[in-house]
Amino acid sequence: MTDQELARRIRAHPWWFHTIDLGDGLVTRGEPVSPVLSLPAAIPEVRDRSVLDIGAWDGKYSFEAERAGAAHVVALDHYVWRLDSGARQAYCDRCEAEGRLPDPQQIDGGFFVEDGYPGKVGFDLVHEYLDSKVDAVVDDFMTMDLDALGSFDVVFYFGVLYHMVDPLRALHRVRQVTKGVAAIETAITVVPGYEQASLIEFFAGKELNADYGNWFAPSEVALHGMCRAAGFARVSTAALDTGPAAPRWRHLARRSARPQGGRIVVHAFA
Ligand SMILES: C[S@@+](CC[C@H](N)C(=O)[O-])C[C@H]1O[C@@H](n2cnc3c(N)ncnc32)[C@H](O)[C@@H]1O
Repeated sequence: MTDQELARRIRAHPWWFHTIDLGDGLVTRGEPVSPVLSLPAAIPEVRDRSVLDIGAWDGKYSFEAERAGAAHVVALDHYVWRLDSGARQAYCDRCEAEGRLPDPQQIDGGFFVEDGYPGKVGFDLVHEYLDSKVDAVVDDFMTMDLDALGSFDVVFYFGVLYHMVDPLRALHRVRQVTKGVAAIETAITVVPGYEQASLIEFFAGKELNADYGNWFAPSEVALHGMCRAAGFARVSTAALDTGPAAPRWRHLARRSARPQGGRIVVHAFA
């Protein structure tokens, strides 16, 4: 395909998650960037390092790592790449109509298309447009063979932890593939007056970002403890955004008795 044809397809692609500036005025029409991920301290140094981007979706952070001089980048995803989003939405609507909560196992693995990767089209278009060498791996990080995947100097785990039914096991698996540092970006809960408490907020419904596939938000202290329990030697907060401006609690900002939300990036060292 010529660059012009690719640019035309990128402009015509109906739905992007990531906003990716491809130069020459070509920008994918995705969601705003996570405020913490745009802070300079959020992303570890990747130059000459191997990078694994777990939950890469349209690949923004994989392509940025490649541009920043990473030696090798693997973009791994499966959920949104294989998802039959219409079937998932219909199931959630049905549950709502019947007054029950969706089954986590159904949400997690019940709605995949038989063939192909409809949610990977955006990634593939950008990959081709950039003539990228990023390797794409389609697999479920929670069940795949991690020995075959190998270990990486830098691991991105952005916006994935709250989707995990079993977050501690997920972090343990992140530790397994990290030989340097894992940058873990996630939603946190901040309970005013209990900032130093190790707390985990559970979402039975769609309280977090109106998504039935979001389960837990730890406090900053709890997240550090979970990373340590998963085997990381040292954890530091690299970027933090809390308070009424945090997107998911904007609608609750006036109700100060409720826990507040926010986003965090921690760096967890092997
Ligand atoms: C909220 S999106 C975050 C996308 C991107 N990392 C970012 O921060 O902009 C969550 C991503 O995690 C992926 N994901 C969820 N569970 C996964 C799993 N078990 N294995 C691999 N990817 C997963 C989803 O498909 C989706 O792309």
